[in-house]
Amino acid sequence: PQDPEFSADVIRWQKAHGRHALPWQNTRDAYRIWLSEIMLQQTQVAAVIPYYQRFLERFPDVGSLAAAPAEEVMAHWSGLGYYSRARNLHRCAQRVVAEYGGVFPADPALLADLPGIGRSTAAAISAFAYGIRAAILDGNVKRVFCRVFGIEGFPGAKPVEDRLWLRAEALLPKQDTQDMQAYTQGLMDLGATLCTRSRPACQRCPLAHRCVAFETGRTAELPVRKPK
Ligand code: ADE
Repeated sequence: PQDPEFSADVIRWQKAHGRHALPWQNTRDAYRIWLSEIMLQQTQVAAVIPYYQRFLERFPDVGSLAAAPAEEVMAHWSGLGYYSRARNLHRCAQRVVAEYGGVFPADPALLADLPGIGRSTAAAISAFAYGIRAAILDGNVKRVFCRVFGIEGFPGAKPVEDRLWLRAEALLPKQDTQDMQAYTQGLMDLGATLCTRSRPACQRCPLAHRCVAFETGRTAELPVRKPK
């Protein structure tokens, strides 16, 4: 079901109350956006920031990263964990140089074919770097959707995830636009700052008036936990 008011509410909230000064915001450089999204896949914002800054000082663009020795890439990743991310990062840089002349493609389907870039990360990069209309669905966004739409079922289960993706696509703003950045960042920020796993700040949430979990007092039960 489409609902133009949903994206308008998210965009309005993001512009007034979302995060605007993270080091990977206020740039259209796909390399910087890609690097941040890979680091943020399994690591919190506060832990990522110093790594992100040191990494960019040493590897300021995709060419310098592609050309670097693997050991040096690993050394700059060391401490962030999930080291397959660093190996994929290096391989991805080499492919972007070899296949795309050092320019990240805008099409999320092409991005998702690169190492380390899944469907949601691909969408985030194309929305942030190129303003393309593409749906994200990371853990935070799943939680927001499960609560707002009262979706029962563990969101990691394939059939539930499929339904969430359909929702995510139906809710996108109508066109490719500058607002794709605000919308995408807004969903992430809502999930990270208000719609938290425990003690969500529903009083400040721009979606509370349409949130099934809030209206039925079930924010503690949704999303459903992983079945044992
Ligand atoms: N987590 C994943 N992507 C993010 C972003 N762009 N800003 C903040 N947190 C994020």
